[in-house]
Amino acid sequence: MGRKLLLEHAHVEGINTYEVYRKHGGYRSVEKALKSMTPDEVVEEVKKSGLRGRGGAGFPTGMKWSFLAKPEGVPRYLLCNADESEPGTFKDRYLMEKIPHLLIEGMITSSYALGANTSYIYIRGEYSWIVFILEKAIQEAYDKGWLGKNILGTGYNLDLYVNPGAGAYICGEETALIESLEGKRGNPRIKPPFPAVKGLWQAPTVVNNVETIAAVVPIVNDGGDEYAKIGIGKSTGTKLISASGNINKPGVYEIELGVPVEEFIYSDEWCGGIKRGKRIKACVPGGSSVPILPHYLINKTAAGESRLMTYESLADGGFASGSMLGSGGFIVYDEDQCIVRNTMNFARFYHHESCGQCSPCREGTGWMEKVLHRMEYGQGKMSDIDLLAEVAKKIEGNTICPLGDAAAWPVSAAIRHFREEFEWHVNEPKACLERNYGLVSEPVAAV
Ligand SMILES: Cc1cc2nc3c(=O)[nH]c(=O)nc-3n(C[C@H](O)[C@H](O)[C@H](O)COP(=O)(O)O)c2cc1C
Repeated sequence: MGRKLLLEHAHVEGINTYEVYRKHGGYRSVEKALKSMTPDEVVEEVKKSGLRGRGGAGFPTGMKWSFLAKPEGVPRYLLCNADESEPGTFKDRYLMEKIPHLLIEGMITSSYALGANTSYIYIRGEYSWIVFILEKAIQEAYDKGWLGKNILGTGYNLDLYVNPGAGAYICGEETALIESLEGKRGNPRIKPPFPAVKGLWQAPTVVNNVETIAAVVPIVNDGGDEYAKIGIGKSTGTKLISASGNINKPGVYEIELGVPVEEFIYSDEWCGGIKRGKRIKACVPGGSSVPILPHYLINKTAAGESRLMTYESLADGGFASGSMLGSGGFIVYDEDQCIVRNTMNFARFYHHESCGQCSPCREGTGWMEKVLHRMEYGQGKMSDIDLLAEVAKKIEGNTICPLGDAAAWPVSAAIRHFREEFEWHVNEPKACLERNYGLVSEPVAAV
């Protein structure tokens, strides 16, 4: 069994309440930081830990924190990104639902480190029941003196608010999140300036994922060096993985970074193998945005190295033969799944969620969905395969925010690794639909 730093007490009865959370060591990191450390010392521990952002990009958290501008007389903000809309990702939901005080504790300790006196948790609108869970826990924290004025008599003040979004994936992009929090349409901003210099209300701002902020609690409690002992190389600590698809044990797992991918899939400790004893066809290790890995690249990289659950190993081989750890949304596909259909579903999602600001994304995501739809429903042409790859290439790198890349990568990777399956859809129209769904006459709907 690997070490658990975040979910250790997730199954304790009543851990969502203040009393039980506190009894299990809750709020120690706030006591330690506020009473015996300067804000810079907290930042230093986070740097030493090697913690990397758990929202998807894996940017070093301590470094991001040290970029925060500190002009005199200007407020600073910490925003927790709880938008979690990436298909395949549901770890933040689990953490907030089960142990809301862990996030609140992390928010207080992190806000202290950054010199923020007002902080926000921006949460996905569809997580409406978690808004209540968080608000109840925040009220408990205020009542017990962990939030508000003069916390623990140290003179440090912090107010914490929960702000629900309205159900747009784009509002998970940090600058769109800021726009939305300011009450505007959630369109990503052009960078620079980065939020560390001009963020919420044009003031210096740090945006961090739920899991990143929660990880600050064990880092401060045990020290950054202890945290850095877990994991491999630049992938330190533990990571929450949301596992779904054709596996025996879907769920949220906390792993020590460095577990072999194959072991994660087949061990009873985690996914428990493929359902009904089927063979594995592919997996998407980091949420819908990252390139799909065909079965022959899951246990070994193209260079013959064992593939591990780390930022580096999953990316080994670049886009030719690698993928990304991303948000840890781990989706497994068995031999019966249709890659064209899966790619079409992803493309539909990105088309629907594109904010429309940048033409390549606004138009390209729609074209990709349209072409994939006609291929899946038996009206594809052989030239569509290259057309799709071309459209994906034209979107990639040509948009204000990375939603364009997120839409393009799954399409280009699917074609790269499963071209024959696309060709089969053209050569034998609807054969796949008939085999998998018994649908031979579904009309091609206009998209
Ligand atoms: C379209 C889009 C959606 C995103 N959604 C989320 C999200 O739901 N949660 C999240 O933490 N990061 C999301 N991100 C990444 C954020 O922009 C940002 O990098 C992250 O919140 C930084 O936190 P971290 O350093 O702790 O990972 C998204 C990025 C893009 C481009």
